[in-house]
Amino acid sequence: MANAHQSCLPEGKMPELRVMPMPADANVYGDVFGGWIMAQVDLAGSLPAGRRANGRVATVAVNSFVFRQPVFVGDLLSFYADIVKVGTTSITVNVEVYAERNRLQAETVKVTEATLTYVATDSHRKPRPIPPLPSITSHHHS
Ligand SMILES: CC(C)(COP(=O)(O)OP(=O)(O)OC[C@H]1O[C@@H](n2cnc3c(N)ncnc32)[C@H](O)[C@@H]1OP(=O)(O)O)[C@@H](O)C(=O)NCCC(=O)NCCS
Repeated sequence: MANAHQSCLPEGKMPELRVMPMPADANVYGDVFGGWIMAQVDLAGSLPAGRRANGRVATVAVNSFVFRQPVFVGDLLSFYADIVKVGTTSITVNVEVYAERNRLQAETVKVTEATLTYVATDSHRKPRPIPPLPSITSHHHS
C-alpha cells in the first residue's frame, strides 16, 4: 500500500493519543483486536470534536474505517485527529493511526484510517448548534 511505510511520524502535528496495546487487547491469534483499535480511534476523534463543540459530543456515525496493516502487541500507537467538516450540529473528524514497531530500528507504519462524525449534544442528549469560532479580527478593527 502506498505511503504505508515511512520512517517517522507526521511532522509538526501532535497526536491526540499515544498508547501501547497489551496482551489483554489481542485477538485469539495474538494480534491486536480491531475492536480495541476502533475504541481508541473513537476516543481520539472525540477530543478535537469536543473542543470545537465546547462540550459534550456523541458519535453518530463511523463513515469509513480501514485497517491497512496489522497492529502488534507492544507497538507504540499514535492517533492523529483532524476536523474535516463542521456542520450545524455535527463535526466530522479524520483519524490516522501510526504504529512505531521494532522501535530500535525506527520502523513507523500507518496502520489505520477512519472518518467519524460527532454531534454536539445538550444536557438532554439532543443536538445543539456548534458554537461559532471566536473572532480574532474584530478585536483589531474596533
Ligand atoms: C447523535 C444524536 C443525538 C443525533 O440525533 P438526531 O435526532 O439523529 O439528529 P439529526 O438527525 O438532527 O442529525 C444531527 C447531525 O448529525 C448528522 N448525522 C446524522 N446521521 C448521520 C450519519 N449517519 N452520518 C453522518 N452524519 C449524520 C446530521 O447530518 C446532522 O448534522 P448537521 O446538524 O451538522 O447538519 C442521536 O442520533 C443519538 O443520540 N445517537 C446515539 C449516539 C451515541 O450514543 N453514540 C455512542 C455510541 S452508542
